[in-house]
Amino acid sequence: MTLLANVGMGMVLIFLIKPFSGRLRVLFVAACTVLAFGLIGFISAAMVGSKPDIMTMIRVGVSILAGGLISLFAYFLLSPVYERVFNLNTGLRLMELCSFDQPLLKELEAKAPGTFNHSLTVANIAERAAYAIGENPVLAKAAALFHDIGKMENPEFFTENQTDGYNPHDELIPEASVKMITRHTEAGAKLLSEQGFPKEIVSAALQHHGDSSVGYFYHKAQNITEGTLEEKGYTYLGPKPQTKINAIIMIADIAEAATRSVRPSTREELVTLVDKLVRQKMNESQFDECPITIAELTKVKEAVVNTLMGVHHERISYNLDKK
Ligand SMILES: [Fe+2]
Ligand SMILES: [Fe+2]
Repeated sequence: MTLLANVGMGMVLIFLIKPFSGRLRVLFVAACTVLAFGLIGFISAAMVGSKPDIMTMIRVGVSILAGGLISLFAYFLLSPVYERVFNLNTGLRLMELCSFDQPLLKELEAKAPGTFNHSLTVANIAERAAYAIGENPVLAKAAALFHDIGKMENPEFFTENQTDGYNPHDELIPEASVKMITRHTEAGAKLLSEQGFPKEIVSAALQHHGDSSVGYFYHKAQNITEGTLEEKGYTYLGPKPQTKINAIIMIADIAEAATRSVRPSTREELVTLVDKLVRQKMNESQFDECPITIAELTKVKEAVVNTLMGVHHERISYNLDKK
């Protein structure tokens, strides 16, 4: 009976502990479940036999409580092992990945501080946008934190890390520049999968640019080419985002970068900019392979604007005086 109760308790715990539960929620849910089962054990012991025996009742109740506590202890002790073995995304593992103690994040901060700060903002946007459309916000945040990890290979080739005015692309032909830039998606995915990151996080690194054009260098090449130039060699290698979270990261990524360079000064300007960026990606068919809907894209755009308003609050006004 005690064994049956513990198995039942385990099943209830697995059902109640959502994939993105925090440690406190896990503890709270587990404590309630253990208490409930202890109480059930106590009552059922009372109902067994014609004469209720108080000692039997206490013994059964206590043994179920003890079994529950042992199960909970085993859950915390063994979860890092089975998360690794079965590559699972439990809330605890995802929260660990979002921690700044992560060696890979520390390395990103040291080697590419601009990319690190960009990733922090993209992660905040992605978390909020995922929440808005009912996706796992902690997974979105973790995936966004590592989406540009491949830039650590050659940080100085990316504008956000160019602080001393030196731009290595000035010495390269556009084809070489495109190769240096586009390879960060594959390099990132390779590094993350070698380090045993969950496949959803690996796929975000690989898919966050889809097969979009690297417009700036395509136009640069066009200017020095006679006749028309095929866009094919000037795009990321894809694939396009296959999940809603990867589509969110694509939008958060371009919105963060564009806000830094365009510097909108009012909320209206920011809304117009985000709208234009999403429309551009739709025209490039970047969302054609993931199940995100137009209604969800609207919610994502709203989350992007609200988060960026918070990040740049000293610069972007609500423009209330115009109303
Ligand atoms: Fe990127
Ligand atoms: Fe990025």
